[in-house]
Amino acid sequence: MSEHVIAIDQGTTSTRAIVFDRTGAIVSVGQKEHEQIMPRAGWVEHDPLEIWQNVQEVIGVALARADLTRHDIAAAGITNQRETAVVWNRRTGEPVYNAIVWQDTRTQGIVDRLAADGGIERFKEVVGLPLATYFSGTKIAWILENVEGAREAAEAGDLLFGTTDCWVLWNLTGGVDGGVHVTDVTNASRTMFMDLETLEWRDDILEVFGVPRSMLPEIRSSSEVYGTAESSSLLRETPIAGILGDQQAATFGQAAFDAGESKNTYGTGCFLIFQTGTEIVRSTNGLLTTVGYKLGDGPVHYALEGSIAVTGSLIQWLRDQLGIIESAPQVEELARRVEDNGGVYVVPAFSGLFAPYWRPDARGAIVGLTRYSNRNHIARAALEAVAYQTRDVLDAVNADVTAAGGVPLAELRVDGGMVANGALMQFQADVLGVPVVRPRVAETTALGAAYAAGLAVGFWSGLDELRANWREDARWEPTLDASERDRLLRQWRKAVEKSMDWVD
Ligand code: G3P
Repeated sequence: MSEHVIAIDQGTTSTRAIVFDRTGAIVSVGQKEHEQIMPRAGWVEHDPLEIWQNVQEVIGVALARADLTRHDIAAAGITNQRETAVVWNRRTGEPVYNAIVWQDTRTQGIVDRLAADGGIERFKEVVGLPLATYFSGTKIAWILENVEGAREAAEAGDLLFGTTDCWVLWNLTGGVDGGVHVTDVTNASRTMFMDLETLEWRDDILEVFGVPRSMLPEIRSSSEVYGTAESSSLLRETPIAGILGDQQAATFGQAAFDAGESKNTYGTGCFLIFQTGTEIVRSTNGLLTTVGYKLGDGPVHYALEGSIAVTGSLIQWLRDQLGIIESAPQVEELARRVEDNGGVYVVPAFSGLFAPYWRPDARGAIVGLTRYSNRNHIARAALEAVAYQTRDVLDAVNADVTAAGGVPLAELRVDGGMVANGALMQFQADVLGVPVVRPRVAETTALGAAYAAGLAVGFWSGLDELRANWREDARWEPTLDASERDRLLRQWRKAVEKSMDWVD
């Protein structure tokens, strides 16, 4: 009997395959980074063929490391960087352009054009999202408007669109030889095209964007058998049975299934998701309304989300662009060399500011510099920026939730790469004023996708079994004096103000 489930996590900086056992423990991991292609300021692309190649490689590595074959795998789940848009030719399997990544801001002109008639909240009531470069819709429009021959090919029915879950699934299930062109509700909810109530594409919005419906995948639940891996794959005949966008997957992996449950993931960016159950809650505080998950024929579960574009990637920027650290973990060492931030604040508005501000005109700022400031202060301020941005989002969540008659968040479940940094997590608890809790399995993104796939094939019996797998590993209680916390936050908010209104 197959005693494992494999998850493919196609992330922003790398692709991983992780094999889990029945208790949700990690058995083995394969991981490979892909190139970040940045042809111009504000442009970020990935090569979809490199990504597909890496998917196959990491599956092989993960299986080999655990000495397993496809016969040991009950199902495979896919989770992915959301919004990143791939457009490819259904007859050749060739992408017509690189994937345009969620962080890419080249479509601001398209956003402005669309917002000229009705403002950035024009479609928010239907799709839950403001018009922003972040979501897939304007990226698809850009490809159709700028890649030679793309519009004609799309109108002839030759082009397909997908986020990277869909691209991986299509290739894994046969590509040009019958690949399954499907995405799940969570990914579909990030395009700008899906009606949150009906879970169907909206023809009127597609028309405004100039995107032919024939390009779009079928929208399915997050947990069902979409197809099986094709014959040349190492996973041959394995059911592909779960898809969740990575932030929704992390929420699922944290066993945060019910209204009022939430998590914050510290990756390239930070994404706080708060489940609102089967009710659609519309934010008046700058949060997105998104789909949390849908299991097979079960009801759809919605969520509020605070998306922060730059957190972990700020540390990479310190390393790669500024050169003040040699490796990402070194940031903690520098930050510890000083007692406080020395009055320095870093606002990493590299892609403008996302939630709760949604200010495309913002750009990064380092403020409060004096002759005394050194790189240790900047390192510390960069780490602190992660925590302050999360606080801004949590305030928005609490405002929306209390307005809807709910209760403010009592503690924050965290996961992602940066939660290994104990000093940051302590500072996070201090800045939030509520405890921060880390689970035993911090790879919740992949775990969530594995859970969705395993549930679909009966590998796990239901949500209670998954809840029982969740174990607390570490907890940080707030210790900072409230007046000091308020002082820091006041300064931070002044710094955020300074970053705004920068782009003419
Ligand atoms: O919305 C973007 C998000 O899904 C990217 O997540 O972990 O790949 O940075 P990550």
